Amino acid sequence: MTDGRHARMNVIPAITIDGPAGSGKSTLGERLARALGWLYFDTGVMYRALTLAAIERAVALDDPVALEHLAEALVIDVRPPEVADGRQYTVCADGIDVTWSLRRSDVEQRISHVAAHPEVRRVMRARQRQIGLRGRVVMVGRDIGSVVMPDAALKIYLVASIDERARRRLQERIARGQPAELAAIRDDIARRDELDRHVMQPAHDAVQLSSEGCSPDELVDRVMHLFSHPTSSAVPS
Ligand code: DC
Repeated sequence: MTDGRHARMNVIPAITIDGPAGSGKSTLGERLARALGWLYFDTGVMYRALTLAAIERAVALDDPVALEHLAEALVIDVRPPEVADGRQYTVCADGIDVTWSLRRSDVEQRISHVAAHPEVRRVMRARQRQIGLRGRVVMVGRDIGSVVMPDAALKIYLVASIDERARRRLQERIARGQPAELAAIRDDIARRDELDRHVMQPAHDAVQLSSEGCSPDELVDRVMHLFSHPTSSAVPS
């Protein structure tokens, strides 16, 4: 990975944030979008909504054609939060609010298998790109800078150690009143890292940042600096 701030033709006013589970992408993405007055779009919810729909409609998770049809037919709507219960957004699938169901453990267990099908990714990426091309969006995922929005103005690849990521997930679950155990969460993240490895495609020109030892505010400041000084090499670290 090198510095992703070269002058390019047809640059889209968008910021992409990719990185592994628990690296802090959603916190950073939401804050950045708020600071810029842009749309925040977490692409993981699309794969989560599809996985939930497949489970509930008994679509075989190893049938790429059936999953592709479901992906094409499922209406996934992501809107500003309509309920003050800690959510970052409201997600509706075919008109039903599934915001919290997307975090169910059976969805977490199966999602990597669903997201691995190239047929599914083709449908999802095309929809994500449509949203990205409108501009003024902070888009978060695994392959956004490399595949979906390679023409985004700034591409970030966010990392943190597995122990730090597990601690954060633990805090999130405790805050939501969910059962939580650090060792199990760490194992789950390690498993997902392995499964996600083939979809994790850091853009060659992404700027790599670590969220470890850095407060959310500091991280936002660093990214805002990168965004507003595209030719500067004096990036605070
Ligand atoms: O970011 P997340 O934990 O909500 O992502 C859920 C799953 O979706 C994760 O296993 C990786 C997958 N995903 C993906 O393959 N591509 C994306 N752009 C976003 C998420």
